Amino acid sequence: PFEPFADTALLQQAVTDSFCQLAEQTVAKNGVFRVSLSGGSTPRRVYEMLSQRELPWDRIHWFWGDERNVPHDHDDSNFRMVHTALLSKVDIPPQNIHAVPVDVESPAKAAEQYEQTLRQHFHGPVPDWDLVLLGMGDDAHTASLFPDTLGLGEQKRWFIENWVPKFDAFRYTMTYPAIESARNTWFIITGEAKQDALKQVLFGAEDPARYPSQRIRPTRWFVDAAACG
Ligand code: 6PG
Repeated sequence: PFEPFADTALLQQAVTDSFCQLAEQTVAKNGVFRVSLSGGSTPRRVYEMLSQRELPWDRIHWFWGDERNVPHDHDDSNFRMVHTALLSKVDIPPQNIHAVPVDVESPAKAAEQYEQTLRQHFHGPVPDWDLVLLGMGDDAHTASLFPDTLGLGEQKRWFIENWVPKFDAFRYTMTYPAIESARNTWFIITGEAKQDALKQVLFGAEDPARYPSQRIRPTRWFVDAAACG
């Protein structure tokens, strides 16, 4: 379904250019662009590159598709990553930044609060994102929908806390119904470590409990040669 990029830098450039194009077009048409961000190392460079571009910053709303259950100033925080790479460098109205309100002791409460935030912004039965950015882990998780976790079965909620036994920790994550509502879903997958998972996602027998990324129907794939093997 895609042409792999020869290397990660080219891929990051392509994601950055495509993001700018889509954001500009969407703002011209609808006056607003609403994007759900992913964590991970590949998008971090994209966020840095976006900070060098001219964009209608006051019209772009930033949401997070997943978050770790740590304070916003923690090294593992996805909010902190995006803040450092992008949000702190450009003039974005604070009301356009919709971080997950992490509550380390009560993740269920924080997830419920973020659900309300999303429902205030999207009035339909599903959040119709202009863009959802997703990565994939080498275990085929996406967002924080990890293999064999309860969150995979969520049908009603848009955003939940999800217990991940292998980390002995909660993660926060968008659910499948919320992801599936996006107008654009870009799957960004780089590096050799993803080869096996990517093979399963593209060609393996369907087993989404084990390979949660199989359920994602991206509108665009950004995959590098290393991930393809
Ligand atoms: C996170 C994510 C996660 C990520 C993948 C891939 O916060 O961990 O959003 O789903 O996208 O783990 O991460 P890399 O791009 O770093 O390989």
